[in-house]
Amino acid sequence: MSNLDADYNLELLATGVVLLDPELRIRALNLSAENLLEVSATRSIGKPLEALLDEPNEWLPLLHQALSENYPMVRRAIPLTTKTGHECTVDITLSPVAAKVGSRSLLMELNMVDRLQAISRDESEWQAQATLKEIMKGVAHEVKNPLGGIRGAAQLLASELPTTSLGEYTDIIISEVDRLHTLVDRMLGPNERLEPEPTNIHEVIEHVRQLIKAEAKGALEVVRDYDPSLPDFLADGGQLTQAVLNLVRNASQACGEGGLVTLRTRVLRQFTVGGTRHKLVCAFQVIDDGPGVPESLLSSLFLPMVTGTAKGTGLGLSIAQRIANQHGGLIQVQSVPGDTCFTLLLPMEI
Ligand SMILES: Nc1ncnc2c1ncn2[C@@H]1O[C@H](COP(=O)(O)OP(=O)(O)OP(=O)(O)O)[C@@H](O)[C@H]1O
Ligand SMILES: [Mg+2]
Repeated sequence: MSNLDADYNLELLATGVVLLDPELRIRALNLSAENLLEVSATRSIGKPLEALLDEPNEWLPLLHQALSENYPMVRRAIPLTTKTGHECTVDITLSPVAAKVGSRSLLMELNMVDRLQAISRDESEWQAQATLKEIMKGVAHEVKNPLGGIRGAAQLLASELPTTSLGEYTDIIISEVDRLHTLVDRMLGPNERLEPEPTNIHEVIEHVRQLIKAEAKGALEVVRDYDPSLPDFLADGGQLTQAVLNLVRNASQACGEGGLVTLRTRVLRQFTVGGTRHKLVCAFQVIDDGPGVPESLLSSLFLPMVTGTAKGTGLGLSIAQRIANQHGGLIQVQSVPGDTCFTLLLPMEI
C-alpha cells in the first residue's frame, strides 16, 4: 500500500483499504482500492476522495458523520461510481482511527459485492428466523398439551394417596411440569401482536439501565452515549424493553464485577435492514468489555436454547431477535475478547 503496508502486507488483501485524513484526502490505499477506484496510488495520494468519484455518491456524507461522531459504520450494497465511469456495488466499513493527538483519520474498507447477493444475505437471515418461529410454535403446542394432562393426573393422584409422605413425589411432578410450561411459554416468545405507539427509545433504555444497575449492585459501570436528535418512533415499548433488557443483562453478566458497559444510540440514514431500505434507522448498541462471545456459539447465538452459561436458558437472544424482527429490525453481533457489541437496528417507520 502506498504506503500503509510497511509492516503489514495489505497489498494482498481482496478488500480495498483507503486511509483518509480528517479533510477526507487520501493518505494511503492498497492495490485493491486502486483497482476499485481506477486510479494509481501515485496519482491519488493527497487528493480529496471526492475528486476520484462521480457526482451521485450519496454516501459521502457518511464519511463526515463517521469522523465527526467518531463512530464506526458499515453500509451494505452501496453503489459507487468513479470519475472514470466505473460502476460497482460495495460494502463499506468506516473506522475512525486515532492519528495525532486531537485528530482522527478514517479507515475505509471497500468490499465489492453483487448487489443482489448483499441483499439476499440479509434476507436469508430473516427467512431463517421466520422458519424457526414456525417450528417453535409447533413444538410448543405439542409439548403444552400433554403437560396439562400430566399435571391434572398428578393432582388427582395426590388426592388419592394413602400417605401424605408420598405427596412429595407428586409435588415434584407438578412443580417440574410448571417449570416446563413456563419454559415453553418463554420459548414461544413475545405476543405476536404488536401494540405500536410513539416510543422514546431513550426512555426504554434508561428504564433498563436502572434495572441492571440495581441487579449489579454497583459492581458495574454503565456509560451512556445517546444521540439526542433521535426522534420518537412507532414501536411496542413493552416488547422493546424486553429486548433491550435481554441484551444489557447479557452484557452485564458477561463482564461481571468491575465491568464496563456502554449504551449507545445513533440514527442511520438510508440503511438496508432485512432487504428493505429505510430512510431512517435507529441503532442501539450495547458494548461490553467482557471476555467476548465464545467462538463456538457465534454461528448459532440467536437460536433458542443456545447458552454458554450453566444457569442460562439460552432464550434471551432468540427472544430479543424475534422482537427486533417483529419491528422490521435485526440484531447483529461483533465480538472479540474485551470488546463485544450487540447492535439492535430498528427502522423508524413501520
Ligand atoms: N455480551 C456477551 N458477551 C459474551 N457472551 C455473550 C454475550 N451475550 C450473550 N453471550 C453468550 O450467548 C449465550 C446466549 O445468550 P442468551 O441471552 O440467548 O441466553 P442466556 O443468557 O444463556 O440465558 P437467558 O438469557 O435465557 O437467561 C450466553 O449464554 C453467552 O454465552
Ligand atoms: Mg441472556
